[in-house]
Amino acid sequence: METLFLTPTDENLALAAKALREGQLVGMPTETVYGLGADALNESAVRAIFAAKGRPADNPLIVHVPTIEAAEPLCYIDKRARRVMEHFCPGPLTLLLPKKPIIPQVVNAGLPSVAIRIPSHPVARKLLELSGVPVAAPSANTSGKPSPTTAQHVLDDLSGKLHSVIDGGSCEVGLESTVIDMTREVPTVLRPGGITPDMLLSVLDEVAVAESVLRPLKDGEKALSPGMLYKHYAPKGTLTLVKGEPARVQSLMKRLYHATQQEGKSVQLFAFAEHLPAYEGCNVKCIGSLGQPETIARQLFAVLRQADAEGIDVLYSEVVAAEGVGLAVMNRLSRAAGFRTIDADQEG
Ligand code: TXA
Ligand code: MG
Repeated sequence: METLFLTPTDENLALAAKALREGQLVGMPTETVYGLGADALNESAVRAIFAAKGRPADNPLIVHVPTIEAAEPLCYIDKRARRVMEHFCPGPLTLLLPKKPIIPQVVNAGLPSVAIRIPSHPVARKLLELSGVPVAAPSANTSGKPSPTTAQHVLDDLSGKLHSVIDGGSCEVGLESTVIDMTREVPTVLRPGGITPDMLLSVLDEVAVAESVLRPLKDGEKALSPGMLYKHYAPKGTLTLVKGEPARVQSLMKRLYHATQQEGKSVQLFAFAEHLPAYEGCNVKCIGSLGQPETIARQLFAVLRQADAEGIDVLYSEVVAAEGVGLAVMNRLSRAAGFRTIDADQEG
């Protein structure tokens, strides 16, 4: 199948909405990352999502709807969840809620909960409204690769495996939505994103953050969110994070850079805008500004994909404090690095 690359005109959105209703796969922009959408109530269409991505069947999907009303037939929404939805939706937040029987097992891996998201991207909203069906959509990348933040990224991974991709420009947030489990007594963030725990505390008495957010699962530990089981966001090259006092980090990164070059490997450094002058003469990529961590979120996946395109063997990256949006950045960066971290303060 030749995948159509669609600009978001009324005509093209109607075409994509029709494809969704007919059980086909459509790549859609959202404010977080691009999604690979299919009619959530059509089992064979949902199976096609798993096949296209090479995604394990036990990793459940998020169901996208345009409004809270459209979510009502799919899940039970108590007062507390409604408060969260009314405050943060549409937006980069996904709520795990008790599912209603209409959700096919293939969507949520047979779990008692279903993940619901109301995206704010105008193109996604229009497509959801026009299609009239709830849309199951994981990130539109090959399983394990960094999520796509442009329509071209979707084509790079999945061209020929979907009906069409709608070009909605670069994603504003750049990292996947915050996933909060609202079925627990204490609502728990399973995946950090653009909506931070502090923001959630404005409408909830308590918010927990799953401990596994910043570390690998221990042997035999059960993942709260199946997606956390899998290797994620990984570039082809070997990425290592370097933490510590900035001057020590910079000096260690430069030493590692030159040592790696001596081994005949291609090497790249990821650094924040404020630190770029320290790496003069090195192959260095800016991954955003420390002063504005949302710029790091927005660029991270594109920079990882770019390193792949350039065939980089070895990567070293600076790190940001795991606070606010920085928590989401460090969650993705740690996984992309397979949790490999060097402490520059210890290395001397
Ligand atoms: O921003 C986003 O959330 C994007 C856009 C397209 O909406 N979607 C996305 O989907 O990131 P995906 O499939 O790549 O990640 C969904 C995550 C996975 O870690 C999955 O395991 C978890 O949500 N999840 C979904 N349903 C769940 C459930 N019922 N219980 C626990 N975890 C669930
Ligand atoms: Mg994903």
